[in-house]
Order: sequence, then C-alpha cells, then structure tokens
Amino acid sequence: MSDQSVYPVPPEWAKRAKVNRAGYEKLYGRSLADPGSFWLEQARRLDWIKRPEIAGDWSFDKADFHISWFADGKLNVAANCLDRHLAANGDKVAIIWEPDDPAEQPRRITYRQLHADVCKFANALKERGVAKGDRVTIYLPMIPEAAVALLACARVGAIHSVVFGGFSPEALAGRVEDCGSTIVITADEGRRGGKKVPLKANVDAARKLAPGLDQVIVVKATGGAVAMGDGDHWYHDLLATAEPECRPEPMNAEDPLFILYTSGSTGKPKGVLHTTGGYLVWVSLSHELTFDYRPGQIYWCAADIGWVTGHSYILYGPLSNGGTTLMFEGVPNWPDASRIWQVCDRHGVEILYTAPTALRALMKEGDEFVTRTSRSTLRLLGTVGEPINPEAWRWYHDVVGEGRCPIVDTWWQTETGGHMITPLPGATDLKPGSATLPFPGIDPQIVDGEGAVQTGATEGNLVIARSWPGQMRTVWGDHDRFFQTYFTTYPGKYFTGDGCRRDEDGYYWITGRVDDVINVSGHRMGTAEVESALVLHHAVAEAAVVGFPHDIKGQGIYAYVTLNADETPSDDLRKELVAWVRTEIGPIATPDAIQFAPGLPKTRSGKIMRRILRKIAEGDVSSLGDTSTLADPAVVDDLVANRVG
Ligand code: WT7
Repeated sequence: MSDQSVYPVPPEWAKRAKVNRAGYEKLYGRSLADPGSFWLEQARRLDWIKRPEIAGDWSFDKADFHISWFADGKLNVAANCLDRHLAANGDKVAIIWEPDDPAEQPRRITYRQLHADVCKFANALKERGVAKGDRVTIYLPMIPEAAVALLACARVGAIHSVVFGGFSPEALAGRVEDCGSTIVITADEGRRGGKKVPLKANVDAARKLAPGLDQVIVVKATGGAVAMGDGDHWYHDLLATAEPECRPEPMNAEDPLFILYTSGSTGKPKGVLHTTGGYLVWVSLSHELTFDYRPGQIYWCAADIGWVTGHSYILYGPLSNGGTTLMFEGVPNWPDASRIWQVCDRHGVEILYTAPTALRALMKEGDEFVTRTSRSTLRLLGTVGEPINPEAWRWYHDVVGEGRCPIVDTWWQTETGGHMITPLPGATDLKPGSATLPFPGIDPQIVDGEGAVQTGATEGNLVIARSWPGQMRTVWGDHDRFFQTYFTTYPGKYFTGDGCRRDEDGYYWITGRVDDVINVSGHRMGTAEVESALVLHHAVAEAAVVGFPHDIKGQGIYAYVTLNADETPSDDLRKELVAWVRTEIGPIATPDAIQFAPGLPKTRSGKIMRRILRKIAEGDVSSLGDTSTLADPAVVDDLVANRVG
C-alpha cells in the first residue's frame, strides 16, 4: 500500500519557516552529538524559578535503571502557560471555545481571564484540602473549565489524572482507585453531537465502586438536573468565594505533572506518569517546530483533552508558547459533515491537527461538504493517532488543503509525551503515509526479533535508543511494570510496540502495533481489557479479542466468545454482550463483531493462537499457517465456517 510519490517542501515554506532543511540537519545533528548542551539551551525557552544545569541523566539498563531531565531545575507549568504572557500579551486570546451547537456563541478567553480563573480555582482546590502531590481526577467535557482545572492542578502541584468523558463509571472508578484520588472534578452533563452525557450521574455510580472518593466538584455546563449530596460542590460557588491571588508552587523538574491511563497488551490500563520540566520543554518545542507556530496564529487541535494529544497539543504546548488554541466541544459530523470546515472558517483557523479516522469518515460523505466552505485561512494540516492511508492523505492534501498546505503526520505515543517522528513543514519533503524523520533528540532504530539493529532500508520493530525529555517516567504505583513493559524486550532500549519500515531515503513508515494492542479510531485498546469485560458476563466462559481492518476506524474489534455450557447463542445475547462491554469500559470499546465459538484454537500448553484468530477475523482463511501444534485442530474449521462479517 506504500506510495512512492514525494511532495517537496513548497518554496515559500522553505523560505519562511522557522526551520528549513539545512536547519533541521544542523539541529538534529547537534541534538545527538552534544545532547547536554543542546537540551540545556532548549530549556531556556521556559521560565525557570531555578534554571537547570543538568540535562539528561538516564540509563535504560536493569542494573542502573533511571530517567531524569533537568533534575536541578525548578519551575511551575501554570506560570509558564499563563503568568509569563500577562505583561505583554494579557489581552491576547488564549482559548477560543467552539460549542457543540453551532447556533450558540463561541467564547474567547484571554490570557488574563484564564489566569484569573486558574488562580481562583487553584485556591478553591487548596481550600478543599488539595496539596502538592495529591491526585485529582478530572472527568469533564470539552469546555474551557477543563483547561482551568488542569492548570489549577499544575499551579498547586497536584497531579491530575484526566479520564475521558466517554468512559463508563466502572472505568472511572478503576482509575480513581488506582491512583488513590479522593476528589473528582466533573460537570452536570457533557454534550457531543447534540446528545447529552450524564457525567455527574456516572461519578455517583463510580463512587459506589471507589469508596475513597469523597469530594466532587461539579461544573454547571448544560444546566441539566443533577443530584447534589454530601461532598458535592458547585464549581461556580467555589470560584465566587475564592481568593484571587495564588502563588504558583515551585516544582522540581522531576515532580509529577500528570497521570494518564492507557491500555497495554496485558492487564489493567496503566497510569503513564509525566513529570514537569522535561515534559514542558518537549511539548513546547515540538508544538513550535512541528507546526511552525507563531503567536497570533489560530491553531486547532481537534482532539479531546481526555487523551494525551489534548494534554500536549490543546493545552500545554500551545499555551506555553503564548498561542491561541481552539477547543471544540462537538464532533466532526454534527450537525453535518461540513462542521470542521465551518469551524475553520468561523475562526480563521490556520493550523488544523486531527486524526485519520475523522478524515476517512468525512471523505466518505463526499467532497461537497468540504468544497462549499472557504478554508482560505488554512496553511498547515496535521494528523496523529494511527497510520494514514495514502488515499485519505491525498484527500486531505488536495481537497481540504487545495494542494497548498503541507501535512505533518506525527508519530508518537502517550508514553512519549510529544512528537517523535514527524515532518517539519519547512524542512521535510513529504511522502503520503510516512511520518518521515525523527524529531531532534530522537534516536530511532529498527531491530529484528532478536534485537539485532538493522541498517539501511529495512523493516522490523521500532525502538528508541536513548532517552528524550518528554519520556514517561514510570507507571503509577508499579515501577517494575514500567521497566518490564518497555525495556526488557530489547535490553537497553525503549520498545515502542510498533512495527516500522525504513526506506532508502531514511524515511520511517509505521506499520502498526506488533503487540496485543489495537488501534480503534486512533484510540488504543488492549485486547485483554475487552476480554476481561466479556468474561465478567454470566453467560461467557472464555473470550479472545483481536483487531481486524476497518474502513473508517482503522481497526475494528472482533471478539470470539465461548459460552458456558448451559447458554445458547442468539442475536439477542450478541446484542447484550455488545451493550455489556460498552457499560464496562465505554463506547470506544464496542465490539464490531462477536462470533460464538464452541472452542478457541489453543496450543497443547493452553496458549490461545491469536495469529489464527487474526487471520480469520481478517477473512484471510487461505493462509492460516501451521495448525498442527493445536490441541484440537478441528476448532479452526468451525471458526472459519461461522465467521461473522
Ligand atoms: C500508538 C500510540 C500519539 C497520540 C495519540 C495516540 C499509533 C500514533 C501515529 C502515526 C502511525 C501512529 C502507534 C502508537 N500512532 N500516531 N502518525 N502514524 N501510527 O496515542 O493512544 O498512546 O497510541 O498510536 O501505533 O504506538 P496512543
């Protein structure tokens, strides 16, 4: 499916961009040749209470495993995102908020207003007993108060853990318990595509499962009726009585900033922990260079604050750079498939950053939804979350961008904090479907199954051979799991979990996950998580979940389910199981296909052979490979005969 065509850097970009090709080569070369002085120089882009004199200090080896950046520096993230812009740019717009319903008025919030609210809310948190190092769970829709909440935590040194508003009460409770947070910030209801999401009611349900949770702060977002009980506080009441002055807490560079839960190939979701100094240097620098960002430009990252993309590129990257960031409450296809382009026109968006899955869904609706809008302000486009197929890339480039906007296809992960492999628009010739070249400081390698480093044009597994400032520091509460997950497959290196090809020009092409993680609409889902949800149902004896190619979502979820002996397969039961998974985890985990399987293909030692299940789900039944090691080869015939789809 690879595409050989090359889209050279447009001449005016090569001339005007912050970084041109020679500039990239110089930056990249220095970043690897002399990382210490390179990163101390980059760190100067922030306001430090105490400027660091140490850059990276790390080892990925078991005997001496540690990762730290700028360890002797002190700073506060909220002060970097707000206070330092006030003197010269206090009246500049920090956040443009576009509501779900286009008939409603957008909001424009200046740096001064945002600073004032963050200071008051930070004081309110302190009055509620929140102190440095405490975990605060945030379960909010895409409203400006979400930005206030995250920044207020950063201001007082509390560690925020944002849980996506689409997750169920069960998933919320699990995350609250895991990080031991006693307080949740939520809203009465969320709104998406004209539909209400009962956030406060979900928190009440989660409370029953997470007894440690004793305070809930509720933003009045829709005005819908909610039950307010003991330990519940209205956000607006707290703000009304809070003191306006709040000194930002001086934080060590290695103090935690946030936890964000993400799915892995085994077990429960892990709490990815990011710290203060390295993370902010990383997202600030990458936001500026990848998007060639200059303050004043209208920039829109169309992600949700519940994912790392929202943390790094709606909030911390743009605000640390004094930018104007657009925050969108709604969805791309409501009221119709023109919405994204209408929002671009309404606010004069210059830089748009979104996911391939959204582009594929919109592309399917036809060009007319795009071409009837102007989009004349757009100058740069970006994608993130999954490989982009060349067809969607071309549509984005030719129809949306009318051929004039470069596309930055940014490869990175929750774990990496920010961009790792990405074009810089003034420096990198583009190839549709390739994330192109490493960001300064990133040392990618392609290894084979045994860990031997492959040179030249090759394909294998993607590892990163040295630390970078934005790297996650641990799995919350389980440092051993951090080491085991990322540093044992290829000792001494960070293993990404992705497969990758490198072409003759040194361009990287991510081929997708090589572990039991599937990528559904740009969101990561652990097959083990869906399996555990299924087996919790009384009718289910065993379940095996795999990904399969899906036109819009990239990958869909295919579940093989073995029922208990006294249960009978039926369409009703199938529907019930789909609904069950949605309540256990959330709508993003909705299985696309459920196949009732009397048996699963297992080796004699009892290991499920997922390779075979993947092939059947893909419909590729002619090449199932060697099935002779199966305990009962006959189960495969039944699976093939009863394939769903
Ligand atoms: C996984 C990380 C990065 C924030 C959103 C997802 C896949 C991400 C790309 C890209 C190909 C990509 C990888 C990665 N991925 N961006 N540009 N091209 N694949 O974060 O949930 O942590 O998922 O998403 O497979 O490992 P995440």
